[in-house]
Formats: sequence, C-alpha cells, structure tokens
Amino acid sequence: MKRIVILVSGRGSNMQAIVQRCAEQGWPARVAAVVANRPDAAGLTFAAAQGIHTAVVEHKAFATREAFDAELARVIDGFAPDLVVLAGFMRILGAGFVRHYEGRLLNIHPSLLPAFPGLHTHRRALQAGCQAVGATVHFVTPELDHGPIVMQSVVPVRPGDDEEALAARVLATEHVIYPQAVRWFVQDKLRLDEGRVTQVDGASQVLI
Ligand code: GAR
Repeated sequence: MKRIVILVSGRGSNMQAIVQRCAEQGWPARVAAVVANRPDAAGLTFAAAQGIHTAVVEHKAFATREAFDAELARVIDGFAPDLVVLAGFMRILGAGFVRHYEGRLLNIHPSLLPAFPGLHTHRRALQAGCQAVGATVHFVTPELDHGPIVMQSVVPVRPGDDEEALAARVLATEHVIYPQAVRWFVQDKLRLDEGRVTQVDGASQVLI
C-alpha cells in the first residue's frame, strides 16, 4: 500500500477527486493525510469527514520560507509518504524542499505548460488568443510550475468564453487527469528518463 500525502490551500476539489477515485477504484494506495497552509482551507473539512488525518502548517507563523518548508517537511514526513501531491497548494516551495521529495512530488497547474506558469492562466490565455487551453500534471522541480509532464488535458476555447467559463471546463478535466496520473504513480506505471515521462503500458497521456 502506497501512502499519499496531499497538500491544499483552499477548496480542495482535486484532492476530493483523488480521494474518491482511490476508494472507488481500489488503488494499491491510501491518502494518509491532507495538509494545508491555511486553517480555513475548505478541503480540510472534507478530508476530516472521510476520516483522513489532517494537519495545518501556517506559513504566516514562520519568518522565512526555509523555516516554513522545514516544518512542512517534518509534518509530511511524519506520515511517511511514498508520494506528495500538490493540489491547489498556493505557496512556492524552496529548492531544498523540492529536492527532498524529488521523483515523488506531483503538481497540477491549470495551463498547457510550459505556457502560462503562475497566476491568472485563463485570463492570460484569452488575452493571447489561444484556441485551446488545458491543465498539466507534472513532477515538481525547483522552477515554479515546471517539470517533467505526466499528463495534459486539452480544452478548446469557444467563442464568448470568459475566464470563469474556461476555468470551470478546465477544472472538470483536472478531476480526470490528476487521479489518473496519481493512479499510474501508485501502480508504478510511470517511467522518468532524462526529464521525460512515459506511461509503461503506452496509455495516452493526453485527454482531449
Ligand atoms: C486548480 O485549478 C489547480 O490547477 C490550481 O489551483 C486550483 C485548485 O483548485 N493550481 C495552481 O494554480 C498551481 N499553480 P482545488 O483546490 O479545487 O483543487
């Protein structure tokens, strides 16, 4: 049984999708804990109701990023994770933290990386005239919203789409690709060679 720790900052809908799919599909894994950097993160309520351990490490309580990262890692390591999943965790993590979890730290970002790392991805995609947007699950490297790509979803931009409409359609695809990527990881079906990820059975790594 692989142990998964999920980090959230707010709503936690991706975390919920992973918890639910893990139970429904009987993955060889369990979500050992959900950790938030904000005590009011709504995702904590869902996790606690599922009987999952929860913890809060408030970034505001630490004078430096390094001190926050160190305490966060101490709390996470208390749950002995095989995989750490960033699911809407909106703090930048330092290089030391990222190296500590190298090869076992996943993130989802609401753009077709490497386009539009950072905030306001849908607004920026609309401004750029993109005809398609999407989401990316990737292994985390010290560079923000960057790293070997595990899976992407592609969502066409329709006439009249605004930021909210795009965000909603992309989020629905996140709830498909993130559980799929995590499932592959816990089934040992991802291979990472020279910064590129393949799915060992040759399954499609894109959802269109
Ligand atoms: C998701 O859209 C996720 O892709 C994004 O935050 C949202 C969290 O929603 N993450 C990032 O922007 C990371 N750079 P959720 O809390 O409902 O899962």
